[in-house]
Amino acid sequence: METKLLGIVGSNVPTSTNRKLMNALKAQVSDQANVTIADLAALPLFDKPAKDAIPAVVTAFCQQVAAADGVIIATPEYDHSVPAVLLNALEWVAYSSRALANKPVLIIGAAYGKLGSDRAQAQLRQILLAPDLQAAVLPGEFQLANSLAAFDDHGALLHPADQDGLTYQLAAFLQAVADNKSLI
Ligand SMILES: Cc1cc2nc3c(=O)[nH]c(=O)nc-3n(C[C@H](O)[C@H](O)[C@H](O)COP(=O)(O)O)c2cc1C
Repeated sequence: METKLLGIVGSNVPTSTNRKLMNALKAQVSDQANVTIADLAALPLFDKPAKDAIPAVVTAFCQQVAAADGVIIATPEYDHSVPAVLLNALEWVAYSSRALANKPVLIIGAAYGKLGSDRAQAQLRQILLAPDLQAAVLPGEFQLANSLAAFDDHGALLHPADQDGLTYQLAAFLQAVADNKSLI
């Protein structure tokens, strides 16, 4: 059966380099898995409604997460942290579902500076391991530094070291997804 992955880009910015990175990843794995990219812009701000009053768009997002064999999250870094749009989405998941529990999750991230989104990615790992999320986060991560200069005109990664790093983490992730599927 086809492997279904969900890509979550922690940005509403159309020109986001994290979105570019997710698109490059999607193209790279197209012969092994189908990656759907979630739309976080549609999610309202979390306001802790009654459990029987969860907005339909939130339920649909959580169902997308639940239906995926694995999830890839690309986080930008805002003020050394995870952008509000991504945290908001994770708050909805934690509050209204068990969609990420034991789900293989690969953390990736792109940032303009030379450290990439390292600090945001570390925070994201901590969040994903919280009791109400309990994701099966892969030990490895992919960091794309200097992300404004990292892609060619077709959206492919320019630098072999970046390409190799992504390929390495993707192989580990796809293996974890396959292992997890065989348990179900
Ligand atoms: C409010 C704000 C805060 C930012 N903080 C950081 C930061 O802490 N570290 C960093 O490398 N870039 C920072 N940036 C620059 C880029 O937005 C950031 O590198 C981001 O990860 C790029 O991802 P994107 O292309 O997907 O938007 C910030 C930008 C904004 C608008």
